[in-house]
Amino acid sequence: MTDHPSLRTAATELFGVRYPIVQTGMGWVSGARLTAATAAAGGLGILASATMRLSELSAAIDKVRERTDNPFGVNLLPSQPDAAERIALIIDRGVPVASFAAAPRPDQVATLREAGTATIVTVGAPRHAEKMAGIGVDAVIAQGAEGGGHTGTIPTALLVPGVVAATAGSGLVVLAAGGMRDGSSLAAARVWGADGIAMGTRFLLTAESQVPDHVKDVYLGSGLNSTVVTRAIDGAPQRVIRTDVIDGLESARGPARLVRAASNALRFSRASGTSPLDLLRSARAMHANGERTWSQVLLAANAPMMTKASVVNGDLDVGILPTGQVVGSIADLPTVDDLVTEIMADASSALRAVCSSEDPATEHPTSQEI
Ligand SMILES: Cc1cc2nc3c(=O)[nH]c(=O)nc-3n(C[C@H](O)[C@H](O)[C@H](O)COP(=O)(O)O)c2cc1C
Repeated sequence: MTDHPSLRTAATELFGVRYPIVQTGMGWVSGARLTAATAAAGGLGILASATMRLSELSAAIDKVRERTDNPFGVNLLPSQPDAAERIALIIDRGVPVASFAAAPRPDQVATLREAGTATIVTVGAPRHAEKMAGIGVDAVIAQGAEGGGHTGTIPTALLVPGVVAATAGSGLVVLAAGGMRDGSSLAAARVWGADGIAMGTRFLLTAESQVPDHVKDVYLGSGLNSTVVTRAIDGAPQRVIRTDVIDGLESARGPARLVRAASNALRFSRASGTSPLDLLRSARAMHANGERTWSQVLLAANAPMMTKASVVNGDLDVGILPTGQVVGSIADLPTVDDLVTEIMADASSALRAVCSSEDPATEHPTSQEI
């Protein structure tokens, strides 16, 4: 069966890919293997770079290129001290798409735009999307509250149509995220007016994701109510699997929280090879810059390493497992190619079923009619 015509969208055009399906940047998870597999399958794969050194990012770009000629992207934290060097690398290496985990500065967007690199920003509210359109961003990932990792409060079913309405006529490409997992998600996103879907957790649970099998088993065993949004890890709301470590951090108060944070931070600094002095230095810098408590900065300074210990090294005692709520409705580990192929076939059937019933003239609507 051919793909439904409304699945050729402004997103496929902007990124130069076959399918309006984006595998998002996930720290420690979306490395070269997953990104290359998504790109080869016809979607847009995005390398997570915030958790890589510049040299590692460069090597990961090479690895993706060895495996596929298709377009792919790199995810950045706009506030990273070496963000300018990362942007220069993306431009220099001709990576066609840069995605930002949070709002970039206008000059960062302008530099990428001038080089012809498409830009994506993750947003959690319609007004943020409007602002991004205003500074020349090409696309947004509208991530609803149920999404994985750092996340907002507006659910996907309210956020996506809200972002589409707020940015109508601006030319901004909108990708629906948070709870997306299959063909019905893609069909629904198109009906909401989005140009495609972006998925984190669903791609984390594929054969090509580098997360160890016993950790994938923990994800697969989680239900719809197994996740929690907590500020206890780094001060910003983050959706993770509810583990004993998270419960402990959540329930500790005042001095107890500080003691727990300090002992966790020290334990994990040993595991990650970061010296306690370096840890203290970066915690002090964070404390001086922001409004986080000492316990939050101590943990925040080490949060990336704690996540690494959990999802890369498979140390489940560390217990930091970022995930979307959709984890509770995922029960398999398909290859990326099978996943993308099935999503396209099911979305096409769903759209045909919705459009075909009464009036034969509406059987093959154009994308504008959806
Ligand atoms: C393990 C994990 C790590 C993540 N790391 C990042 C990141 O480094 N940068 C980013 O922009 N988003 C990150 N996210 C958010 C995802 O890119 C994506 O927007 C989100 O997972 C979408 O929701 P879903 O999980 O319901 O698909 C992460 C999510 C997960 C599950």
